Amino acid sequence: MKNQPTLILGTAMWGWTISRQDCFALLDYFYGQGFREVDAATNYPINKKPEDFRLAETILKEWIAVHGVHDLRLMMKVGSLNNQRTPEINLCRSFLLIMLDEYRQLFGSNLGTFMLHWDNRSEEGAIRDSLEGLDAARREGLQAGLSGIRHPEVYARLNQEFRFDFRIQVKHNILQSDFGRYAPFHGAARFIAYGINAGGIKLDPAEYHERSSLKTRGAEANMAHPMLPQLRDAIGKASLNANRPPISSFNQIGMVYAFYSPDMEGILLGASRIGQLRDSLAFYETLKAHDYGDLYQSLKERHAEEP
Ligand SMILES: NC(=O)c1ccc[n+]([C@@H]2O[C@H](COP(=O)([O-])OP(=O)(O)OC[C@H]3O[C@@H](n4cnc5c(N)ncnc54)[C@H](OP(=O)(O)O)[C@@H]3O)[C@@H](O)[C@H]2O)c1
Repeated sequence: MKNQPTLILGTAMWGWTISRQDCFALLDYFYGQGFREVDAATNYPINKKPEDFRLAETILKEWIAVHGVHDLRLMMKVGSLNNQRTPEINLCRSFLLIMLDEYRQLFGSNLGTFMLHWDNRSEEGAIRDSLEGLDAARREGLQAGLSGIRHPEVYARLNQEFRFDFRIQVKHNILQSDFGRYAPFHGAARFIAYGINAGGIKLDPAEYHERSSLKTRGAEANMAHPMLPQLRDAIGKASLNANRPPISSFNQIGMVYAFYSPDMEGILLGASRIGQLRDSLAFYETLKAHDYGDLYQSLKERHAEEP
């Protein structure tokens, strides 16, 4: 069997749908359970409020200061110049060096991975310049990462020379996956699944509330996704197996799907409340203890865009 993916706590909604107090509670619990990997980005939360630019990392920094923690493994995605959800980014070498310096100062030994975020470029010279910036991070002992890359084939070509052991964040859930786009890196990089709930889908429509992530992010169309009845059917069949706990949420479906997918070394958790995080960590233990391979296969057959 392939290596089991690890869990990483996401921060995209910190300071947006999740209050500072709840962010602290999530991290207290995650850290207390022995997990150390946290994901962040300069532009979180992407709520289009200029006053909230870099708020998620500020909350994270405050938590670290309060607890005097030195052993987080923070994955920081850089390049964004604002939190407006626009493609305005700067991935040139000199800017990356400034950001590297900035995040080394802010997070010290807690910084583990330095990741390029959102690149639509295809021009080899410009991408080479970015990789030279990333190389400086590697020389400082950090892992190198990619996220939101429009032309992975150019990166893969240049990487024959640079030889990065990339960690790559990829949207990967039962309704939509970008894994296929990264074909040049299949078998040659360590992938991390994000968006495993497709932004906050619930199996039972009664679970949605005013502050539901899906509504806040404007993705309500997914609430009535045509695949949902099929999913309920697959869950029903999988629950007939009395040798393991039944599946009870879309989140658990997302975890099964990511856990068994090839090349996935990590699963990003977007828990917005402590109860959700508890459920995800408990289900992770269930996944390690029981075989849900048959459910994964039946989900895979239903996946419209499986590479
Ligand atoms: N690389 C990139 O470009 C990129 C893009 C997006 C995200 N990310 C990273 O990945 C993380 C997760 O992304 P995401 O927020 O899009 O993930 P997601 O898992 O698709 O959606 C998160 C939402 O799912 C629901 N949820 C989560 N855990 C649950 C549980 N145990 N039970 C029931 N519902 C649960 C919550 O919805 P409610 O709040 O409505 O209950 C939560 O807000 C982000 O925080 C960020 O760090 C990276």
